[in-house]
Amino acid sequence: MTVRRVVSVVGARPQFVKLAPVAQALMARCDHVIVHTGQHYDARLSDIFFEDLAIPSPNVHLGIGSGPHGAQTGAMLSALEAVFLTERPDWVLVYGDTNSTLAATLAAVKMRLPVAHLEAGLRSFNRTMPEEHNRVLTDHAADLLLAPTQNAVALLANEGLSDRTVHVGDVMTDVCLAVRDEVAGDPVPFEVDGEFLLATIHRAENTDDPERLASILGSIASLDRQVVLAAHPRLVAKASEFGLKLDRGVVRVVAPLAYPQLIRALLASSGVVTDSGGLQKEAFLLERICTTIRTETEWVETLEGGWNRLCSDLRNLAVLVRRPEPAAVAGAPYGRGDAAALVADALLGARLA
Ligand code: UD1
Repeated sequence: MTVRRVVSVVGARPQFVKLAPVAQALMARCDHVIVHTGQHYDARLSDIFFEDLAIPSPNVHLGIGSGPHGAQTGAMLSALEAVFLTERPDWVLVYGDTNSTLAATLAAVKMRLPVAHLEAGLRSFNRTMPEEHNRVLTDHAADLLLAPTQNAVALLANEGLSDRTVHVGDVMTDVCLAVRDEVAGDPVPFEVDGEFLLATIHRAENTDDPERLASILGSIASLDRQVVLAAHPRLVAKASEFGLKLDRGVVRVVAPLAYPQLIRALLASSGVVTDSGGLQKEAFLLERICTTIRTETEWVETLEGGWNRLCSDLRNLAVLVRRPEPAAVAGAPYGRGDAAALVADALLGARLA
């Protein structure tokens, strides 16, 4: 069967970044339908990514919004079934590890529609993370596993999934490298006086426990230099709920950054403190020291050579952010910026039963 129609399902900020090069690569090669679940709805987490990265507007917007995991995923599952019935895709393409990914996968497999999982094979081995449930379940249900790294290929093999796996590289690297070259001359998107660290915190395991969040915010506020904290709405909501102040000590809070602004800020910074997967990788690609406030990372390549270090004990944060830059160049474990073309080849060259 010839592949005529691919339906991409996205819903959360990092998925829009991944969609950008994939939409470009699929354009003119097949009918590409974009479905936005509405998991992220703030303009700064959604619309500006479509504008800045020249992504075609979604063909379908489900407007699901926030909610507890079951209710949010269930609402998406039901709405996506109706979309797939109308669109009848040859592939449903899902991105990463969000509730939008899991919902689309479930809806598709139950309709016997082929599912391709972009960013397959990542593992934290931390079964308390919602993202880990989502990515493991998706990998085991999907028909084509598009792995970003050789490590992901090996992890999928350990789970008996080799025959469905194709190594394509990391599509976020495609975007990061292209945007780096475009923004080099742009002004830094906030006023800052001298050296600074760029910080983001949004993961449930860091934000949803008041004591944990208080320690993180306290540790960041007492670092040895300015910290620009680009605050995700989840962080703002949780800090306010627990009566914690974000803007204190060396911390200066800014709204979530658009993608080109983020890359510009990262280039201007002397390092990163984060729990975001994407930002760990972007820091690595742009050779900025990253300190990750988590006990593990899915992007283990960033740890090699010391560009990224995990901070599982917050008492070590101040020392970790002061470490010198590694001598080793970061290398190219995520590809050289051509992953989206390989994704398109894998989808369109696939022989479907
Ligand atoms: C989701 C993903 C996470 C990804 C992150 C990127 C899941 C389980 N998690 O986490 O893997 O790293 O996106 O940002 O899918 N909110 C707003 N406006 C929005 C979106 C969210 O105010 O546009 C607030 C709401 O209070 C909401 C909370 O943030 O309840 C959490 O949002 P949600 O999309 O459920 O999870 P994220 O933390 O963004």
